[in-house]
Amino acid sequence: MENPLERIRTFFSSLISRRKDSDSILGIDIGSSSIKVVQLKKKSGVVVLETYGELSLGPYASLDVGRATNLPAPKLAEALKDILTEANTTTRSCGVSIPFSASLISIMTLPKVDKDQLAKMIPIEARKYIPVPISEVTLDWFVIPKEESRYLSKEEADKQDAENKVHVLLVAIHNEMLNKYRDVLKEAGLSTSFYEIEIFSTIRASMKQGVEPVMIVDIGAASTKVYVVEFGIVKTSHIINKGSQDMTLALSRSLEMSVAKAERLKREQGLLPSTENGGVKETVLLTLEYIFTEANKVLLNYQRKYNRSVSKVLFTGGGSVLKGLQAFAAEKFNADVALADPFSKAQTPAFLENVLKDVGPEFTVAVGVALRRLQELE
Ligand SMILES: Nc1ncnc2c1ncn2[C@@H]1O[C@H](COP(=O)(O)OP(=O)(O)OP(=O)(O)O)[C@@H](O)[C@H]1O
Ligand SMILES: [Mg+2]
Repeated sequence: MENPLERIRTFFSSLISRRKDSDSILGIDIGSSSIKVVQLKKKSGVVVLETYGELSLGPYASLDVGRATNLPAPKLAEALKDILTEANTTTRSCGVSIPFSASLISIMTLPKVDKDQLAKMIPIEARKYIPVPISEVTLDWFVIPKEESRYLSKEEADKQDAENKVHVLLVAIHNEMLNKYRDVLKEAGLSTSFYEIEIFSTIRASMKQGVEPVMIVDIGAASTKVYVVEFGIVKTSHIINKGSQDMTLALSRSLEMSVAKAERLKREQGLLPSTENGGVKETVLLTLEYIFTEANKVLLNYQRKYNRSVSKVLFTGGGSVLKGLQAFAAEKFNADVALADPFSKAQTPAFLENVLKDVGPEFTVAVGVALRRLQELE
């Protein structure tokens, strides 16, 4: 039986730790089209937004705002330094998100052995799950608790019980990417740092605890990432090779205007009724329909495979800020549709509330990384 004294002790220590203030932490998301930074702090147990900012990377590669880039480390460091100055950040302590495309995630089934043995076994077993040489990646893993394992699939959970096996979430990150990021951070004068694959940051900043499956659709510049998450576990992940810059490029071609002008038009008009915006809606829809059709395939495959319906589709990423996107998505998906609101996880100045709700989806990853450090302190 649980010791009542232990409960009282836990209760009081949680009160004490809640009162303690944390140091500030920066969450950094180096996206293909822009860098986002968010600085958070815990005051009297409440997460507080200290500052935030975003900087387009296009101009650092002689491209227009909104375009995807692949900058070398020195250019990225230059951009990072610029946004830290512009946003007036005051800490050097940071967490950085790793692009989903530079990572591999799989679920391994292993025999139930003690922790030390498992640590030796994982790098060897990982070879079967990772399609690149193990020397080229950095591995991390997490043993999925038995309770959560039930959500992988009933057959799997039964099998695990019968055969005395455990499920391990395996994460591999390409060393090349880690080395590049280390150089960027060093050059930008940032010190303590940790890394997290963006998928986990997104989940932390956008989802509430729940057991229903949710599909997250992150519309970036060059690509769209789709994840189905159930009970906090990523069950399916997929990359669609179109993103918001494809809308801009299509607009620029069809309306014969510069990319910069097309980008402005996309942001101003979005999916507003076409009589008012001279064909913008129709052109933008070509890309959006493609993305939605592909995302819907992921959703339907998931439902078929696990025989459970996806209750909600959650949109995030700069591309999801498009005017009218939510209403259009509600027509296309047979589920509740919502936009991520990561700043709702923090206390923010009242006068910024509307702005932060509007731009929120762009900052989901950056907020999520910073939140990780604050949660570790709980
Ligand atoms: N208000 C807006 N309306 C429509 N599109 C917008 C708006 N604001 C930004 N975007 C688009 O969002 C895209 C960038 O989204 P985001 O910042 O999430 O991408 P990223 O993180 O840089 O890319 P990735 O995650 O693929 O590396 C750009 O193509 C930009 O044009
Ligand atoms: Mg992104």
